[in-house]
Amino acid sequence: MAWITLPFAIGVTLISSLAWLIYVSYRQRAKIHQLRRQGFRMPQNWSWIFGHLLVLQKARSKFPSDAAAWTTALRELALGATDTEVLLVDLWPVSPPLLIVADPEVAVQITNKYNLPKTRHNSEDSMKPIVGGPSIISMNGEEWKLWRGLFNPGFSAANMTTYVPYIVDCVQVFCEKLEERAGKVLFQLEDLTTRLTTEVIAKVTLDVDLNYQHQDHVLPHAFNTIINWHSMWNPMIWANPLRPLVQKYYGRIIKRFIRKELQARFLELQTGQTSIAKRGRAKSIIAIALEGYIAEQGNASGNSTSTGELNEHFTGYASNQIRLFLFAGNDTTSSSIIYLYHLLSQNPLVLEKLRVEHDAIFGPNVVEATDMLKEKPALLNQCHYTLAVVKETLRHYAPAGTLRSGVSNVVLTDRHNNSYPMDGICATIIHAAMHMNPYFWVRPTEFLPERFVVDPEHELYPNPAAYRPFEQGPRNCPGITLVYNEMRIALVLTARRFIVQPAYEEWDELQAMNMGFLKTLGKRLGVVATEPNTVYGDRAYQTDTAGTHPKDGYPCRVELLNRSL
Ligand code: HEM
Ligand SMILES: *[C@@H]1O[C@H](CO)[C@@H](O)[C@H](O)[C@H]1NC(C)=O
Ligand SMILES: *[C@@H]1O[C@H](CO)[C@@H](O)[C@H](O)[C@H]1NC(C)=O
Ligand SMILES: *[C@@H]1O[C@H](CO)[C@@H](O)[C@H](O)[C@H]1NC(C)=O
Ligand SMILES: *[C@@H]1O[C@H](CO)[C@@H](O)[C@H](O)[C@H]1NC(C)=O
Ligand SMILES: *[C@@H]1O[C@H](CO)[C@@H](O)[C@H](O)[C@H]1NC(C)=O
Ligand SMILES: *[C@@H]1O[C@H](CO)[C@@H](O)[C@H](O)[C@H]1NC(C)=O
Repeated sequence: MAWITLPFAIGVTLISSLAWLIYVSYRQRAKIHQLRRQGFRMPQNWSWIFGHLLVLQKARSKFPSDAAAWTTALRELALGATDTEVLLVDLWPVSPPLLIVADPEVAVQITNKYNLPKTRHNSEDSMKPIVGGPSIISMNGEEWKLWRGLFNPGFSAANMTTYVPYIVDCVQVFCEKLEERAGKVLFQLEDLTTRLTTEVIAKVTLDVDLNYQHQDHVLPHAFNTIINWHSMWNPMIWANPLRPLVQKYYGRIIKRFIRKELQARFLELQTGQTSIAKRGRAKSIIAIALEGYIAEQGNASGNSTSTGELNEHFTGYASNQIRLFLFAGNDTTSSSIIYLYHLLSQNPLVLEKLRVEHDAIFGPNVVEATDMLKEKPALLNQCHYTLAVVKETLRHYAPAGTLRSGVSNVVLTDRHNNSYPMDGICATIIHAAMHMNPYFWVRPTEFLPERFVVDPEHELYPNPAAYRPFEQGPRNCPGITLVYNEMRIALVLTARRFIVQPAYEEWDELQAMNMGFLKTLGKRLGVVATEPNTVYGDRAYQTDTAGTHPKDGYPCRVELLNRSL
């Protein structure tokens, strides 16, 4: 009898799974259909079978396949929405229904008024291999409040000033690396900028000198390996049985390293060693957090009395946060520094104005700026136009965004008084769409740092809520002052010494020469499709990576300027 029952059982299972799938899909789409009837704004051509997946795919196909596809396609859809800057896209089963927001007022409701919780998407599960466990970026509620509170003082603008001399030293090494290449080779600028930013973050947060611009180091090496083995899309990576082993192995190396350094910082604190201050060094962000923790908990050793053992709870959590800082700050800052040079190469008048400001504040002798900044970090705050260049760069190339969960009793309202009940709907604020929206920005596509220095009556003066590269509200980016400082220092020390020019044509020729015979032939014969290689005319477009790296790591050439002193 078994030979009858087995196929029968399989048949029943198949049919019931199929029925279940159809039922779930139907319910999902019916819900969106209902929202359509309620007046939720949506892109055209929604379908019962595909939702908006085909619409998104179509918007995507205009761009290179490695472009920051989600954001560019969503930006395209959002900017196409004429009467409002809020629209719902139905991407089930890829993601829950998603409210795309490019309207400042709605964004303020999301981040400030309701401070909607982070989604499961950037949850501990997907971040765990990278940060090792719960971290500030994925936590919610009281747990988030506690840890964010411990780290805020270290990131404060006032305390950030104490790191300026150190950042100046790091940028000085960056300048040496540029000088070595000046007038000589084609190179990818990203190789230099990621090393710079990683070095700065390790120093500022953990007080460790990686010396990473000169040599390799176990910490970033372990980190890089973990990240290279992290992919949600590539099954060759996520389904690889070796992946968890490799990630665990390198995770342990990172943990051991951070633990050792934490222990050292802890000893310095315990032995009352203001030796840190004595050595004229700034207190690291982790040291300040540790002080806060001790003050709150009575003592940091908790269980283990005064053997100099650091509290396990603090150590575990703190090392996750440091890994998060490296992860959240490295690519974002690195890419943003590259885009400074990219935009300046296209806007010579801005570059000239920048140099005039630097001459005025630091005098005409370019090399003196280094020592002046180290002695008087507050000089940075006088560089108003420099900061405006930084801000305008981040408006054009914002590297992040935010994704929040819907909450059942929250209703968002747009400027036409349309309401959006947020039950079961995620919201994402698309910075590119908001920052380029002509409804909120005057001459949006132009590079006009002036908008950030004019008086409020001026037509260029921006709506502060429309400018959100670091997001706003209590869950904004704590790294903002660090980033502004690092980018300003980079400009002060390089704008008058170097000129950086993108070299994509030369790069493409080199790539073509190295291209395999078959591929070359295929392209010649038109068999291998040539896809678009720009985004809105930009060859150095943001790619689909964490921190949205410029395409191909920004191949460029650098010239040393011979300014008479
Ligand atoms: C150009 C550079 C950077 C940009 C544009 C940027 C942008 C952002 C944005 C938009 C968020 C909100 C993310 C979300 O809501 O999911 C965020 C969060 C965060 N960023 Fe940054 N970031 C930058 C650099 C840094 C640096 C250098 C650090 C640390 C050293 C850092 C640490 C963090 C942390 C810890 C969070 C989570 C905050 C929380 O959830 O309470 N970021 N960043
Ligand atoms: C919807 O379909 C029509 C006709 O096929 C097309 O012209 C239009 O561009 C599509 N809209 C979107 C948002 O894809
Ligand atoms: C700067 O750090 C110290 C600890 O060294 C802390 O007490 C102080 O509150 C911080 N400053 C600010 C403005 O948060
Ligand atoms: C920093 O960014 C580079 C470039 O994307 C990446 O290869 C590396 O893994 C990152 N390093 C750390 C420590 O996050
Ligand atoms: C720290 O706390 C533990 C228990 O919580 C206690 O036994 C120990 O004596 C405390 N140490 C100091 C130095 O206060
Ligand atoms: C002390 O440590 C032990 C083992 O590490 C743990 O089980 C216990 O809960 C801790 N006690 C306190 C008060 O933290
Ligand atoms: C939206 O509603 C508010 C209060 O309910 C009202 O004051 C305002 O005029 C309305 N705006 C529009 C555009 O209908």
